[in-house]
Amino acid sequence: MPQDVEVSVIVPTYNERENVKRLIRALHETMTERGIPYEIVVVDDSSPDGTAEAVRSLSQIYNVRLIVRPGKLGLASAILDGMRAARGSVLAVMDADLQHPPEVLPEMLRRIEEGCDIVVGSRYVAGGSVRGWSLARRIVSRGADAIAKLLLPRTRGIKDTMSGYFVFKRSVVEGVPLNPRGFKLLLEILVKGRFSRVCEHPIEFRTRTWGESKLGASEVFNYVLHVLDLTHVAVRFTIVGSLGALVNLATIFVLRHFLGVEHWVSVLVAFESSTLFNFLLHELWTFKSALREGVLGRLAGFHGGAAVHLVSQLAVSNLLYYGYGAGSVTSQLFGILTGFVLNYVLSRWVIWRRWVETLRAKGPCSPEGGSAASRGARDGRGER
Ligand code: GDD
Ligand code: MN
Repeated sequence: MPQDVEVSVIVPTYNERENVKRLIRALHETMTERGIPYEIVVVDDSSPDGTAEAVRSLSQIYNVRLIVRPGKLGLASAILDGMRAARGSVLAVMDADLQHPPEVLPEMLRRIEEGCDIVVGSRYVAGGSVRGWSLARRIVSRGADAIAKLLLPRTRGIKDTMSGYFVFKRSVVEGVPLNPRGFKLLLEILVKGRFSRVCEHPIEFRTRTWGESKLGASEVFNYVLHVLDLTHVAVRFTIVGSLGALVNLATIFVLRHFLGVEHWVSVLVAFESSTLFNFLLHELWTFKSALREGVLGRLAGFHGGAAVHLVSQLAVSNLLYYGYGAGSVTSQLFGILTGFVLNYVLSRWVIWRRWVETLRAKGPCSPEGGSAASRGARDGRGER
């Protein structure tokens, strides 16, 4: 094993026996040809096809380390385990199935030397391509990309946000708590990492010859949840608030039409049920790191927030309608917006202020999501 490992290539595997052998040989060839010190870290989830044994036998010849985990624990978590074991100052992540061309790696590493902090192997910049993908797979990939760009501002300048082939300086992720969930570690790194320049480098995404893709419906579903988790707190607050409005309407509907409850009583019960619903989701999701102590205090506080929402909504709506002659719908719209914003401000800075404090304590890389966008310029607009 060479003394100074500069580049660690992390390769997650699940049933890739034939592929990973070829990949290791190809990587070795490419890297030694260019004189780049490297190590390969294979993270295998006890593949039933004997991938680990195949890698172990190659580790006598090549600079390969093998981590075997007890079962299929997921792609992103495999990469994270590989990162923990890696020794290089530059880390590369690629699939084992030869869909990611190994011979491009030296060029991607050169981009790092030129000052990029992250280099994404990209199908969608000039010179990049994808071969052999069904229409369905293309649609899923483009849809996933659109969701990321919509909800995660930090991914917007990047063409291929879904790439599984990327290289980055270790400093980008040092001390950054990354979530081991799902398939897309690159998204985590783009949202939470410390960097100033992301570059894209064209790759030809090839067809798979051996084995099959592990991307299924549950990965797609998980992906959506993962992106929602990475969003800015205001986005999460809005999503919960909108669901709460639906809960409110559904409650009124049931009380009035099935139980024949008086209108004003139904309104009160609906207010309470949506307030409880929102509170629960804010506790468990929107502000989840604030959990534990003081739940009752926050519950009371959030009732205050909801009351402020209601009163300010009525006040603004009536003021605009009666005082300024605005239309009913316009008045109501501004009323709702005012109530919502006041409730958000109270929730974030007063009721769940411990959440903000925990964030501060964690340093610059917070699970606050999109607000991180202001840090770090992007540099991935198709240049090469
Ligand atoms: N250890 C481990 N555990 N490895 C896994 C697991 C797992 O649970 N699931 C998948 N892998 C490995 C596969 O063996 C392969 O080496 C790599 O992760 C990618 O899995 P594929 O099943 O080949 O994914 P794909 O080709 O459908 O999708 C790939 O390309 C997409 C487009 O660039 C992935 O890299 C995606 O992240 C990427 O978006
Ligand atoms: Mn693949």
